[in-house]
Amino acid sequence: MTGTVSSSFDRLWADLEPVGRDPRGGGYRRFAWTREDATAREWFAAAAAARGLDVTTDRAGNQWAWWGDPDNGPGVVAGSHLDSVPDGGAFDGPLGVISAFAALDELRATGHVPSHPLGIVNFGDEEGARFGVACAGSRLLTGALSPERGLALTDGDGVTMAEAMKQAGADASAVGRDDETLRRVGVFVELHVEQGRGLADLGRPVAVGSSIWPHGRWRFTLEGEANHAGTTRLADRRDPMLDLATAIVRARELAGEYGVLATCGKIAVEPNGVNAIPCRVTGWLDARGADPAAVRAMVAEFDVGLASGSLAGPSLVSSSLTEESWTDPTSFDSYLVSRMAMLLDGAPVLATGAGHDAGILANAGVPAAMLFVRNPTGISHSPAEHASRDDCLHGVRALATVLRDLAG
Ligand code: GLV
Ligand code: MN
Ligand code: MN
Repeated sequence: MTGTVSSSFDRLWADLEPVGRDPRGGGYRRFAWTREDATAREWFAAAAAARGLDVTTDRAGNQWAWWGDPDNGPGVVAGSHLDSVPDGGAFDGPLGVISAFAALDELRATGHVPSHPLGIVNFGDEEGARFGVACAGSRLLTGALSPERGLALTDGDGVTMAEAMKQAGADASAVGRDDETLRRVGVFVELHVEQGRGLADLGRPVAVGSSIWPHGRWRFTLEGEANHAGTTRLADRRDPMLDLATAIVRARELAGEYGVLATCGKIAVEPNGVNAIPCRVTGWLDARGADPAAVRAMVAEFDVGLASGSLAGPSLVSSSLTEESWTDPTSFDSYLVSRMAMLLDGAPVLATGAGHDAGILANAGVPAAMLFVRNPTGISHSPAEHASRDDCLHGVRALATVLRDLAG
């Protein structure tokens, strides 16, 4: 790899690193259509401008930087997302966008002129941290999420996506499936930090992604009666928090029974006062697994428990589950997977339980694949997420090799 390229990686990384980082805990808070998101988008536009690339924004608000005329396609596209989960790590998303710019620099530094247009994309709102639906940018682009539903989604303060887009200066009225943009994408390769220990265990720096587990998110609400913590006898309480605790424990038991993963990582408590019995609690369930039928069966049994009152006391009102999103099992393009593994000296091929925009594109018929970069601890969605600089540069080199091959 050329020295220019490692320094361009370092520069890109250093410029993006402070955006949306909490100086105390070091975690990132880059949520869709916020000031931090706008700053990340400015960083993307500046990185593209510094390379003389034209930037367009599609109907869903995703950013595309093109080397070559994208209408002389089909194009070869790399990239990922820049938004984060609450207190997320530095790598999940940004590593793929930074590596795409650095790989383009590598191709240029070695004098390569691709015969297909080469694109770099920043998908908006991949984590769904603000509006609840993961991969909202790519789902809106492909039509997997309708504009009516997407724009009406609300954040924790009741702000709709449409309002948030408007406040950010984006055109919410244009949102919808964008065939013109999709036509330009002949193939999409998303490089991502590994969110697991597969590569650490194998002692390899880079893997090719084969598939994504089916996964979904559900919401449920339990209603009780707000009352005073110091004057309400235990026997008189209608406390939905206790029932939320029961429901969470039950989700974990069911996950074990069905051989799937279930997580309750977010709750909302009303009124959320230390000395008040809550009147209402809302929980979110994330469930995933290799077998979609097992995931569905686990969630259905959890739902029956909620509806029948076995997870909530008889004096409480519980809602059934509302599905916020579901993604079918995803297999990446088999030709691409084997071609990439071959180009990368027999790189390991790994499946993942994490969702990605590459999966949304693959399910919409776009040939797509992924590269994973070793994460020594496997920790992700946490400030402790990490990949060494050497491994990141391995990733850039791997991506450049793949792009050189695919773009001709
Ligand atoms: C995305 O990171 C997800 O799998 O939740
Ligand atoms: Mn993530
Ligand atoms: Mn990601």
